Order: sequence, then structure tokens, then C-alpha cells
Amino acid sequence: MRIVLVGPPGAGKGTQAQFLSSHLSIPKISTGDIFRDNVKRSTALGRRAKQYMDRGDLVPDEITIAMVRDRLSEDDAQEGFLLDGFPRNVPQAEVLKKMLDEMDARLDVVLELVVDDDEVVRRLSGRRTCRVCGRVWHVLFDPPGREGDCDDCGGELFQRDDDREETIRHRLEVYQEQTTPLISFYADEGILMGVDATGPVENVTDRALAALRPFME
Ligand code: AP5
Repeated sequence: MRIVLVGPPGAGKGTQAQFLSSHLSIPKISTGDIFRDNVKRSTALGRRAKQYMDRGDLVPDEITIAMVRDRLSEDDAQEGFLLDGFPRNVPQAEVLKKMLDEMDARLDVVLELVVDDDEVVRRLSGRRTCRVCGRVWHVLFDPPGREGDCDDCGGELFQRDDDREETIRHRLEVYQEQTTPLISFYADEGILMGVDATGPVENVTDRALAALRPFME
């Protein structure tokens, strides 16, 4: 299956992507994670991306698209994938369509995680991420057993630089302006499915799996 997850910052795309990709045995490809990994390793790509990420702006398309093209050409992505955070605007969606045409493939479904702005701010201000395995936690809604440590691998948890309140607000504006046009783009293609992303994580996963079920047969 080839799936795209769309939704505002903090909607739970990364959280759901980790469960859905393991359930469906397809790789999760998160452009945010790839950028953060490059920032951590201080690569040329990471140094260019960081200035945009810290402000909450989108990294320019030419950088992002080249990175996704490389990732989609890897062996594990040939039979299916779950994209988290890409595409993020209509030009990226158009390029993705061309890339898939070249692979003689197409997207099966775009899942839109629907949640309001106040919930986004609550979720992002309490988010903690594992430095080692990337597992996402929340200090109130999904706390690890021991504060500051990842239950899955014991790694140290950290707060993302772009999770400051003013940056969160700016990321929401960027989402409204640049990413919401994707909703009608994919609705017109007939592959958009909305998923209520409120409530406990497991309930959201169940709703997402129910939405995907017709495409699994
Ligand atoms: P990216 O990493 O993609 O950030 P984002 O879209 O802003 O999304 P987040 O990762 O903040 O949130 P999420 O929806 O994954 O939520 P999560 O599961 O963590 O991108 C970062 C930056 O990289 C961008 O700003 C941009 O600069 C750049 N970038 C990336 N892709 C790009 C592209 N294509 N083009 C250009 N630039 C790009 O959950 C959030 C919190 O809520 C967690 O603590 C979690 O535990 C908690 N939570 C999750 N679900 C629930 C629930 N149901 N109930 C309660 N709490 C919950």
C-alpha cells in the first residue's frame, strides 16, 4: 500500500505512522525525521534545513523533493510506504505523482488526521522524543514509565526546538496557507479519507485502520 498522512503539526502523524507502518509492514518515511537526523549529524542538508525548521517554515521544495526522490528509490519502498509530512504543498504533491508515474505506481489513499488548534498546542507543548529510537511520548497523554527515559530503548528524551509556543503558532499558519490546499487536491483525486484524530491514541489507530481496511483486500 502507498499511503500519505496529512494533518496539522501535532495531529499525531508520527505517532500513528509508527503503529500503522508496523501493522502494515511498510516503511514509514517521515521528512521531518530525515531532516532532524541530518541536523543531528550536521550534514550540509541538515545545516540548510535547520534555519527553516527553527522558524517553523517549510524547507524549500528543491531540497525536500530531491531527498524524497532518493528515499523512494530505495529497495524497501518499492512495494509500498507510508509518507508522514510529505507532500506539504500542491507543487510537492504534483511532483510525487510524477515520481510514482515513473515507478508505474500510484497512491492508494491519503489519510487526513483531523484535530483542532487548541489540542495541537496541548499536544506539542508536552511532546518528548527519544534521541535514540525516535519514539514519540507526551508528558501527560502518553508518559514513559520513568521521566526523561524512553521505555522502548532506554534512550534520553528531548523537547524539539520547534515546539516553542510562538513557533507552534507559526507552523499552524504555514499549515493553513500551504498544506490545506492539499486536502481539496486529494479530494478531487478521490483518494482522501478524513480520520477523527481526537481521543486516545489507540482509538485513533483503530479509526485509521478501519479507514484503510477497504484498501487492504
Ligand atoms: P514534521 O516533523 O513533519 O512536523 P509537523 O508536521 O509539524 O508534525 P509534528 O511532527 O510536529 O507532529 P505529528 O503530527 O507527527 O504529531 P506527533 O505524533 O509527534 O516537520 C518538522 C519541520 O520539518 C517542518 O516545520 C519543516 O520545516 C520541515 N519539513 C518536514 N517535511 C517537510 C516538507 N515536506 N516540506 C518542507 N519542509 C518540511 O504527536 C504530537 C504529540 O501529541 C506527541 O507528544 C504525542 O505523544 C501526542 N499525541 C499523539 N496522538 C495523541 C492523542 N490521540 N491524544 C493525546 N496525545 C497524542
